[in-house]
Amino acid sequence: MTAYDDRPIPRTHPSVIATAARRRSLTPPPLSNARVLEVGCAHGVNLMAMAARLPDARFVGVDIDARAIEIAARRAAEARLDNVTFACVDLSALDDEGPYDYVIAHGVLSWVAPAVAEALFALLARVLAPEGLAYVSYDAKPGACMREALGLGLRAAPHSDDVLETLRDSPALAGSPAGAWLAAEVSAALQRPRSYREQQFMGEQHALCVGEVWDWARRHQLHYVHDVAEVGLPAEAVARTRAAVERCASERRAVEQLFDVAIMRQFRATILGRQAPGIEVAVARDAPPARNVPLRPRVRPLCRLEARELGFVSTDAHVARAVHPLHGLLIEHCDGARDHAALGQVVIEAVRNGTLELPSEAGTPATLEEVEAGIDLVLGAAIADLASAGVVV
Ligand SMILES: C[S@@+](CC[C@H](N)C(=O)[O-])C[C@H]1O[C@@H](n2cnc3c(N)ncnc32)[C@H](O)[C@@H]1O
Repeated sequence: MTAYDDRPIPRTHPSVIATAARRRSLTPPPLSNARVLEVGCAHGVNLMAMAARLPDARFVGVDIDARAIEIAARRAAEARLDNVTFACVDLSALDDEGPYDYVIAHGVLSWVAPAVAEALFALLARVLAPEGLAYVSYDAKPGACMREALGLGLRAAPHSDDVLETLRDSPALAGSPAGAWLAAEVSAALQRPRSYREQQFMGEQHALCVGEVWDWARRHQLHYVHDVAEVGLPAEAVARTRAAVERCASERRAVEQLFDVAIMRQFRATILGRQAPGIEVAVARDAPPARNVPLRPRVRPLCRLEARELGFVSTDAHVARAVHPLHGLLIEHCDGARDHAALGQVVIEAVRNGTLELPSEAGTPATLEEVEAGIDLVLGAAIADLASAGVVV
């Protein structure tokens, strides 16, 4: 397991799943004390960022990868998260009976054999609470097929960089519409780290069509609620395409399948539930809580660990945010004891000894005098920013 996607994934958050359910006139389980299971949780990064912000909810993460689970458990202990547990187990053999309000399986379905996929749906059917909701994502046909084709090429030769560069420079690709599609996949792959490519293309990953997934769900008495994956097209184009598709087919399964062909869908993140959904209504997603700027800010232990080990911090909006040097310094020193004046001294000292550089208004490095003159403003803005993201409390 490489760490390519090892970060909070916003659309997996129960608040997003709950919003999708409300859009289909369902009443989702409350978040504050929800019971949440993540299957294929890898290092637990996604789950821990949720657990840190929902202290009365309970989280369980399972994965077949013993090393990933060992790291997840160690990090949870270091971040003092006592509402999350991790277990190394094959999902096919998981004997947990739940019930869970939310079950997340991100990036699992396209990576496992059909028997394990079947076991995943049986697990959902068994452990979901009556109003429970599941998130199941997968690489979708037809859009992900070209990525599969690229995987064939990459698996044929030992050096992925050589293969990608050869394909990128191939005059044949520029000459046909299908070649242009493959060329787009090649250039996207070249922009990702090698570790990502190794996982994305070298494994047994496969695309699925929406109909197959619906059939699995149906066999296990689960209803399709909504899809929360971005499609990467303007909303107006999506609405017009959907309306056109709905004129060709009436059954929902057929509409969804045709729609995926019409937009060359690459990825789905499907919400399933035990309850049959109702009519579609407009709802807004709950905003993250507003936070005051604390006088003696204290960084969340999890965020300190994320900054140290992962190079980002999770936010209240459940996104990974890169840590720039000033924030890194504050994350290290916001211990709940230092007030703004003391933190200002830490910043000034770091500029004085050359371990921190701040930009001046002109964009050049600020002098020590400029930093001293502007410290209240700079520090106030940085702490307000960290507080609004829920990194310091
Ligand atoms: C592509 S990774 C996705 C990891 C994580 N959910 C993410 O999105 O970053 C697939 C994960 O599923 C796990 N996995 C594969 N087969 C499994 C099984 N039978 N039982 C439990 N976990 C499994 C792998 O170990 C891996 O961590």
